[in-house]
Amino acid sequence: MSKPSILVARAVFPQIVDRLAQHFEVETNPSDEVWDKAGLIARLQGKVGAFTTGSERIDAEVLAACPQLKIVANMAVGYNNFDVAAMTAAGVLGTNAPDVLTETTADFGFALLMATARRITESEHFLRAGKWNKWAYDMFSGCEVHGSTLGILGMGRIGQGVAKRGAHGFGMNVIYHNRSRLTPELEAECQARYVSKEELLRSADHLVLVLPYTPASHHAIGAAELAQMKPTATLINIARGGIVDDAALAQALRERRIAAAGLDVFEGEPQVHPELLTVPNVVLTPHIASATVGTRLAMANLAADNLVGFLTQGKPLTPLNPQVLAR
Ligand code: GLV
Repeated sequence: MSKPSILVARAVFPQIVDRLAQHFEVETNPSDEVWDKAGLIARLQGKVGAFTTGSERIDAEVLAACPQLKIVANMAVGYNNFDVAAMTAAGVLGTNAPDVLTETTADFGFALLMATARRITESEHFLRAGKWNKWAYDMFSGCEVHGSTLGILGMGRIGQGVAKRGAHGFGMNVIYHNRSRLTPELEAECQARYVSKEELLRSADHLVLVLPYTPASHHAIGAAELAQMKPTATLINIARGGIVDDAALAQALRERRIAAAGLDVFEGEPQVHPELLTVPNVVLTPHIASATVGTRLAMANLAADNLVGFLTQGKPLTPLNPQVLAR
């Protein structure tokens, strides 16, 4: 009997492709080109499964053009590249890759916070440019981290990881805002206090964004929100582009209405708002918060497990729309 066919839409660890090839006919993307919609639809013809990253958009048009598709497994915890309602309507299962990246991403959130508050990349650029000819008492004075107030917007697993690092490692006063409040046990574990979004914006010395991107969170931080923050505050985005209005942020940074920002995600990435590239008080990284070899391998393995589990036994590990399974 011939094996079912799947598409691995982006380059991934060769051992993952080898694993998948034990169960499926696998078409890969050796040049790692990011296909446009027509290119993706063309390659999905005849495929029952797809392994995607955040760069492949699965919407009603793609689903209508690929009637054999049964599952799309995202190698990411975020899945705003999926139209889950359209997938459910089409009877296509979506899966994501949660949990395996929580601690690594929280580590990175903290690294970005530290780099931003303590002006690490800005001072390194100064040094590399040969501008360091003497020590000075006020060189690259940054913002205090230990003992300051850490604000977290979005208190899922990664937000909780950031909170624990701040509270237990740096003695920070942790406040958070989330759609729903944590249980008292979790609040105690994270040493975090629930506040309104207004209080969060007003009180945070460092505000870390860890909420999922949805139409409701689009520009959750725009000009009005930035205006409520302390002029000494830093803003860290490890969530998704589009949650921050990047144009408004660039202007606030240029006018020093907040002290600095650390951004791993951008509106329209891999394009970056040109103004962000010219302001000095921002640390920019190319969406690498989960990028350690071990974690990226675990994410890829989980996406592969979902494909194998669902297509061989009807049992995915991390389904996003399990109602499809009941049909
Ligand atoms: C990365 O951004 C992810 O969602 O896993």
